[in-house]
Amino acid sequence: MTEMRQANIALSEMPTQWYNIIPDLPEPLPPPIDLEAGQSRLANLPKMMIGECLKQEMSQERWVDIPPGIQELYAQAGRPRPLFRALNLEKRLGTPARLYYKSEFYSPTGSHKVNTALAQAYYAKQEGFERLTTETGAGQWGTALAYAACLLGLKCTVYWVRAVYSWKADRKALMEFFGAEVLASPSPRTKAGKALYDKDPNHNGSLAIAISEGLEDALNDPAAVYSLGSVLNHVLLHQTIIGLETKKQFEKFGDYPDTVISCIGGGSNFGGFAIPFLHDVLREGKKIKMIAAQSESTPNLQGEYRYDFADHAEMTPMLKMMTLGHKLEPPPIIGDGLRYHGCSPILSLLRHKGYIDTVAYPIDEKHVFNHAMTFLQSEGFLPAPESAYSIACAIDEALKCKETGEKKAIAFNISGHGFLDI
Ligand SMILES: Cc1ncc(COP(=O)(O)O)c(C=O)c1O
Repeated sequence: MTEMRQANIALSEMPTQWYNIIPDLPEPLPPPIDLEAGQSRLANLPKMMIGECLKQEMSQERWVDIPPGIQELYAQAGRPRPLFRALNLEKRLGTPARLYYKSEFYSPTGSHKVNTALAQAYYAKQEGFERLTTETGAGQWGTALAYAACLLGLKCTVYWVRAVYSWKADRKALMEFFGAEVLASPSPRTKAGKALYDKDPNHNGSLAIAISEGLEDALNDPAAVYSLGSVLNHVLLHQTIIGLETKKQFEKFGDYPDTVISCIGGGSNFGGFAIPFLHDVLREGKKIKMIAAQSESTPNLQGEYRYDFADHAEMTPMLKMMTLGHKLEPPPIIGDGLRYHGCSPILSLLRHKGYIDTVAYPIDEKHVFNHAMTFLQSEGFLPAPESAYSIACAIDEALKCKETGEKKAIAFNISGHGFLDI
């Protein structure tokens, strides 16, 4: 073997702390707020959220210990996951760039979402909850939480955006094999859902609506707690395991990225991969181009930076984020996990301050899936539709290097496989 194709770390080298970027942000992170009038949503948070996650949400502690029980769950879920050099793809593109991809597709349920699902289920179990409720868009988060709940002996209820629920029967079956109850959203089960369902039983739904349903369900049952798969600070915190591993693996390659790319909806995937590198940018003055790949269906990082609700029915506090407006009902796409009106407050602040670039691909998804096909045919892994956006962006950057002759190292995360999502 002439050139190294893969680097991994031993289980004993797996990071034992998550990285919390909040104390290193260029300015203080604006906190969640209530509307001036009406009932306080902030006061409701302890009833809606897992206590430990709420604590982590505004923590100023830079390094947060991963409890041994969660480290063990990570090992069970196949962590650490290798970093590959895409030598075949480089050759096929004829680019002087070096392409590296992280393999979050080696996941029991298909994506990076297990990294926070396991942590949240672990804490929920410790706090005595019996059931988790949640939303899901692509279905990857719902499957991850169903899996985590099953391993921890919890029940799980998933409100799944109808536009996707309707065509991923195998993913629904997998959630049910794990023991979860799965409902198409908007559903007649909740007030928030029923209001929309009664008007149109075939309503496509949106993540913002499904979040409202999951929240309402949890608020009405003291044994249940709501679990969110993206956007919030603690979710990104748990996902930093991806980038922390990747940094150690880059050391084994003897290389370091010039460009870091990943797809983004609410931000857990991009954040998990990029935040440990943003640490080097903010604290060590490293220069890295960060690109978030989006869909023109919801280019939230190109929206306005302002306070907005995280859900459709306005049950959450308002978060300062890049947003397209919480009442948006954007057109469904195959990579539906990216279709969310707002972006994580941490990443929104960094985008606002100019640390993150963004590209949004057309709704017909042809460009994205053509590039994903090139990847599949050279590297052999079938990406999730959302991950195809990371690949498209990495290939576009590699082709720019072909034109300029620049020998950049480009890192991208393949957040999931597409076996249940083709
Ligand atoms: C495979 C996959 N990748 C990426 C994403 C985007 O995740 P996030 O919105 O948390 O960035 C999703 C969301 O569902 C997904 O399923």
